Amino acid sequence: MPALYNLFCQHCQAPGTDLSLPESFAVIGVARREKTDESFRAELRESVERFSPDTFDGETWRQFAPRIRYHRTDFENLDGFKALGKRLADEKLPQNCLFYLAVQPDSIITVIDQLRASGLARPDGGRQPWSRVIIEKPFGRDLASARALNERLRTAFSEKQVFRIDHYLGKETVQNILVLRFANSLFEPLWNHKYLDHVQITMSETIGVETRGHYYEQAGAIRDIVQNHVMQLLSLVAMEPPASLDPDAIRDEKVQLIRSLRPIPADAVAGSVVRGQYAAGEVLGKAVPGYHQEEGVAPDSGTETFVAFRAFVDNWRWAGVPFYIRTGKRMPARVTEISVHFKPVPQVLFNNPPYGPMQPNVLAMRIQPNEGIALQFQVKRPGAATRVQASQLDFSYAEEFGAAAPEAYQRLLLDAALGDATLFTRNDEVEAAWQFVDPIIHACEARPAAGIPGYAAGTWGPSEADALIESDGRRWTVLRRHEHHATEEHGRMGARAHGRA
Ligand SMILES: NC(=O)c1ccc[n+]([C@@H]2O[C@H](COP(=O)([O-])OP(=O)(O)OC[C@H]3O[C@@H](n4cnc5c(N)ncnc54)[C@H](OP(=O)(O)O)[C@@H]3O)[C@@H](O)[C@H]2O)c1
Repeated sequence: MPALYNLFCQHCQAPGTDLSLPESFAVIGVARREKTDESFRAELRESVERFSPDTFDGETWRQFAPRIRYHRTDFENLDGFKALGKRLADEKLPQNCLFYLAVQPDSIITVIDQLRASGLARPDGGRQPWSRVIIEKPFGRDLASARALNERLRTAFSEKQVFRIDHYLGKETVQNILVLRFANSLFEPLWNHKYLDHVQITMSETIGVETRGHYYEQAGAIRDIVQNHVMQLLSLVAMEPPASLDPDAIRDEKVQLIRSLRPIPADAVAGSVVRGQYAAGEVLGKAVPGYHQEEGVAPDSGTETFVAFRAFVDNWRWAGVPFYIRTGKRMPARVTEISVHFKPVPQVLFNNPPYGPMQPNVLAMRIQPNEGIALQFQVKRPGAATRVQASQLDFSYAEEFGAAAPEAYQRLLLDAALGDATLFTRNDEVEAAWQFVDPIIHACEARPAAGIPGYAAGTWGPSEADALIESDGRRWTVLRRHEHHATEEHGRMGARAHGRA
């Protein structure tokens, strides 16, 4: 709702542009609880005021509110869906319909079936009004269930009508990956195994499972983050240049990349994948409980809250270049960063004692927070003695463009309304991603729950994750802004504690 409200503000400021909502639109909430249009509006006003305090304005809300309605039905009740269709006609509401399924995963198929049976899901094309559907992750919980969901969707909607949200794709910094790679002649010629040593992706959260313990128990970090967000980042950073900016041209290349990932079969999982589970600890100065103590979590749960793995892309561009991925909850900082590490310079001149060894060049894309891009390179420290030091060129979105970038959902909801599917995940993309993670999940789930390594909340994961990358002679890194010793390295050599769950 904050995203829709902000789109409406854009509409008020610049009506009729292709980046605002159309003049005539309505938002209808559908659920079981007893509410009137008025009580629903009051509830939403409170949320929008709270979550969009910078843009909330009483007068704009007064114009927005009459467009909001509430329709009460149980998803199981077909008559409720038919009544919704009748209401659209009786109240002369716009007939183009975008159904946004912000529902629990086990309700998705029920709602799709009802949309089809009630006639609300209209076939694509022709002269009649369009209907589209937005689905939130998770898109299934393995390859078989994702396929079943896609098949069921096909009975009601064509693929062109389906918009699968991965909110990472709505982020400016994620969209900028393609601009950085393909609108600059500087980087793309170097973007391959000849010049790059390896790529790292870090997606860390400081929060735990919050109130979603029940959900998380069934998911874990691989299903919750790797299958979707990580695969999206990985495919954008590693895909081949698309033939055009057409949504399908881009998505074709992304799928191709995911399909080029070298499978990690069950017997290789132990050597390439590390899982972890947070124990009690301290995050941002606050004592926090361990995963087993969280509400909705089984005391002997084997669900992972951290995963790190090494992947390879089997194509000509990436031959032999490892991709190190790590994601976890209750880490010391909230960071999403992709770093591209260049090959070290030869051990001559400055890369030898007494000057070296030197840190290699790193290009880091900070997806969130401190959105920006940093390039680490070597400079001479002023003075008679030759001393080499790593420094950074740093681009910051906030410094360059001022106001915070629009929220991801704002862009995604507008694109779905405009029918532009570029930033949404296609069915074959979802299935290719499951095809890669399924064997990893199966191999992990076959192991005893008690064997999962622990890490103290507030640390960068279990020591096994450091050992994974250090056995290849590399270290986990996150580039920090505006600091002389720019690279923060995480490893057993660093001053950090490890714990066991
Ligand atoms: N919450 C999060 O932090 C979060 C994060 C990431 C993704 N998501 C995704 O967002 C979606 C919604 O998650 P949520 O946690 O907000 O779910 P939720 O709290 O269960 O909300 C589901 C909504 O559907 C309604 N509903 C539930 N069962 C219904 C039924 N049988 N018939 C009609 N209406 C029904 C509920 O209202 P009534 O009780 O009034 O029916 C409620 O408005 C899911 O796809 C989830 O995966 C959520």
